[in-house]
Amino acid sequence: MKSTWLQLDSLLLLLLLLLMELSFVSPQEGNKPNFVLMMVDDLGIGDLGCYGNKTLRTPNIDQLAQEGAKLTHHIAAASLCTPSRAAFLTGRYPIRSGLADHREPGVFIFNAASGGLPSQEVTFAKLAKQQGYETALIGKWHLGLNCKSSDDHCHHPSTHGFKYFFGIPLTNLRDCQPGHGTVFQIQKYFPFGTLGIVLVTAVFLHHGGIITIRRGLILSLLSLLVVVTVLAAGLFLMIPYFNCVLLRDHSIVEQPFTSENLTQRMTHEAVDFIERNSARPFLLFFSFVQVHTAVFASAAFRGTSRHGIYGDAVHEVDWSVGQIMEALERLNLRENTLVYLTSDQGAHLEEISASGEVMRGWNGIYKAGKSTNWEGGIRVPGILRWPGKIPSGRQIDEPTSNMDLFPMVVQLSGASVPEDREIDGHDLMDLLQRKVERSNREFLFHYCNAYLNAVRWHPQNSFPETMG
Ligand SMILES: *[C@@H]1O[C@H](CO)[C@@H](O)[C@H](O)[C@H]1NC(C)=O
Ligand SMILES: *[C@@H]1O[C@H](CO)[C@@H](O)[C@H](O)[C@H]1NC(C)=O
Repeated sequence: MKSTWLQLDSLLLLLLLLLMELSFVSPQEGNKPNFVLMMVDDLGIGDLGCYGNKTLRTPNIDQLAQEGAKLTHHIAAASLCTPSRAAFLTGRYPIRSGLADHREPGVFIFNAASGGLPSQEVTFAKLAKQQGYETALIGKWHLGLNCKSSDDHCHHPSTHGFKYFFGIPLTNLRDCQPGHGTVFQIQKYFPFGTLGIVLVTAVFLHHGGIITIRRGLILSLLSLLVVVTVLAAGLFLMIPYFNCVLLRDHSIVEQPFTSENLTQRMTHEAVDFIERNSARPFLLFFSFVQVHTAVFASAAFRGTSRHGIYGDAVHEVDWSVGQIMEALERLNLRENTLVYLTSDQGAHLEEISASGEVMRGWNGIYKAGKSTNWEGGIRVPGILRWPGKIPSGRQIDEPTSNMDLFPMVVQLSGASVPEDREIDGHDLMDLLQRKVERSNREFLFHYCNAYLNAVRWHPQNSFPETMG
């Protein structure tokens, strides 16, 4: 009797060892998947054909969704670029990394700002790089650049695991394109108009003999107004030079950059990167500068949509996605590449160009947009394609977050999720592969900058009957 038990015991042990062995020889061993992670700046969930848009044409993105899974309850961790991107790269709420501000504007608006994603934060790119991945960021960074001097690049993408960088360290400000106005509202802080009117009225009244003002006072007010106006004008002329810089790794390619053909150039860079690295595992984060204001599109796409330059820009983004998919196909990388497409937050509904053209996107049935915690500010498209691994044509309405990509990418790259810190993302593979029907995420917290605004509850069990 005893010996049979023992035998059974060792048999079980053997089986267990075999299973462990099997799980070690996971598909990524020796044949790690590549990652192409695409984020379109300020794209609204309602701008894509596969999410219900009838007038914009996004055939390439729609095809991605058809060949993969479409998340219909995908939530950005913040409704603004800087914090949302910090969360995406680290799998953590931006409040944990300090990238949630207590005041407006809540994003970096100067390259010269000394803040950035802290070096102690771990991005998926850093971990993938340690696993032998070639890593690149093409496009927008918006997570800081320097600490102490104008070129120490202490927050440069390369310090966070991106071996190659071609793109803009800040964001595509209105100021980056001539004729698109400015985001810096100096008039809010200095009353140019009021001061001008007071001065003119005073001079007028003085001349009419109604009041008497010392000439010196008028002269000093007048010179203050002139000096401040000249300084402000100088600053505005300089802003594109400080802020609109296109870099390749650490060198300046253009300052200020010309945006017209930027999506085309970035697309070529992305395709080149894929071609250069087709023989090894790579991770490409393609972070579109579009469709953020100042909206632009290259000549081939201008006038192609019914929705002005904004729609043209969406068309160009879709073309770009098509080029990248075509490169994967051509290089035989389709099956072994996990592709993701999302937006960093909802569309910016208030955007009107300097000439009065409406440049907002569409968040579908969701209320409000970027920089709010209404659903339209945070519900974003989420498309994942990995042929053979992720069943195609599926729509998943379970709550998911852009932070979920972190644990997923990290584990698929062969690394382990850091245990010395809180990670807020949940691996989505089981959900995507239909191993589970429900996401195990019970809560999602919604911050407006550093302030907790709302909590989304996804009950894990149905209510006990007594709770009625
Ligand atoms: C953009 O590309 C077009 C076509 O190649 C070219 O004619 C145009 O000059 C380019 N624009 C800029 C600003 O480089
Ligand atoms: C498609 O997108 C455009 C541009 O954002 C928007 O104006 C339009 O209402 C959308 N159409 C539908 C049917 O969702």
